[in-house]
Amino acid sequence: MYFIGIDLGTSAVKLLLMDEKGNIVNVVSKEYPLEFPHPGWSQQNPSDWLKQSLAGLKELTAGIDKSQVKGISFGGQMHGLVILDKDDNVIRPAILWNDGRTQEETDYLNDVIGKDKLTEYTANIAFAGFTAPKILWVKKNEPENFAKIAKIMLPKDYLAYKLSGVFATDVSDASGMLLFDVKNRDWSEEMMKICDVRRDQLAKIFESYEVIGNIKADVAAELGFGADVKIIAGAGDNAAAAVGTGTVGDGDCNISLGTSGTIFISSDKFTVDEKNGLHAFAHSNGAWHLMGCMLSAASCNKWWMEDILKTKDFAGEQANLIEKMNDFMGNNDIFFLPYLMGERSPLNDTSARGAFVGMRMDSTREEMTLAVLEGVAFALRDSYEVAKSQGINISRTKMCGGGAKSVLWRNIIANVFNMEVDIPVAEEGPAMGGAMLAAVGCGVFGSVKEAADAIVKVKETIKPNPEISARYEKRYQIFKSIYPSLKSIYKMI
Ligand code: XUL
Repeated sequence: MYFIGIDLGTSAVKLLLMDEKGNIVNVVSKEYPLEFPHPGWSQQNPSDWLKQSLAGLKELTAGIDKSQVKGISFGGQMHGLVILDKDDNVIRPAILWNDGRTQEETDYLNDVIGKDKLTEYTANIAFAGFTAPKILWVKKNEPENFAKIAKIMLPKDYLAYKLSGVFATDVSDASGMLLFDVKNRDWSEEMMKICDVRRDQLAKIFESYEVIGNIKADVAAELGFGADVKIIAGAGDNAAAAVGTGTVGDGDCNISLGTSGTIFISSDKFTVDEKNGLHAFAHSNGAWHLMGCMLSAASCNKWWMEDILKTKDFAGEQANLIEKMNDFMGNNDIFFLPYLMGERSPLNDTSARGAFVGMRMDSTREEMTLAVLEGVAFALRDSYEVAKSQGINISRTKMCGGGAKSVLWRNIIANVFNMEVDIPVAEEGPAMGGAMLAAVGCGVFGSVKEAADAIVKVKETIKPNPEISARYEKRYQIFKSIYPSLKSIYKMI
């Protein structure tokens, strides 16, 4: 039997084929464009997601007995607003999780409706990337589009809809809409009123591992699959990555360095961050999690390498840094603020921007490369500090995402966080998690935890070095004071 996980990412869709024992049989990736129609705006066409996912599914399963494909599930970029009219046409390009156009709507929700009320209704406050402020933005700026809305969907739910014909979502992804009562795992009546949205415009809610339906006959025929393939709800990419890395027990932690950077803390109990710095969302294992999300993580490195240094040789640029890693780490005079798309957690500031600070006449390209990686680690540590202030103590973490492939970045994270970092064998966090959720939905495993215990293996553990961690501690204290001093300047830019 085979199970497929589809990770609908921001730069590409990654598809993973897994057998019933959890072995990875094949992995395929297909890119699509990302539009920035205005500074700070970020959009994609759902039709590109569908086209590339179908092409990917064909390539993924080209050499196998397709009748053995039993289930498909998802990890999807979260928060994106996909709106369909009554005939199921996509009304406008999807507005993505890292889009910063909704500062006004976010301020309205936090300041006029009020953070206390939002927290009471949804367990969260408004962040510009969340879906509810985007709905309010469309209502104000594109009333003709707002009037046409028949269905409001999240990115992966659009794919699931096209594959199954069922208008569904899952609890983890729904949590990021700010329309969802996370504690009671249902849509919030109050938030629907505030956003002028009706329940029939919202999807039916499932747990992430539940079957939403069977594959549509025409899609099965196009792909050469049997008609019995089950479509399983799936999860937001971070909750799916948590499954793929085995972050499903109380207090387990996963750090993901993808386009975004996240610190994800699994919890058996429903918890709200009193300071509202971290998101309090439902987990894909039936429980909950807290999460800090920075908007630009591996994307800062990609920007620095490809757009500024004009190279694709990421490993080459890091080679000397890796060779002399223990001397370089914690001794860099240059700081980098990674807020290239503004910042979500914990700053909640769409006007924040990137910055290099501390260059001298003898500063080098290498030190700037290192500063970019360190800046991302420090900014993620900001979210960890919020968790610590809530009494959450973590002694080790898993790590996944493109950035986790860099030996240097893994070591920086271990030392900036001063904790052991476990690297799972399967690096494809959300796609692996998606395939595992599909296997759970099809009854191969009794629970998500059972699947994780059976499948997830750690291939390497990075231990922090006390001397380097102490150096980084001092650097972090300086890093923390840079954003507050630039904040008022960012507002002028
Ligand atoms: C999480 C978030 C990002 C996206 C990236 O809140 O916005 O991690 O899900 O795909």
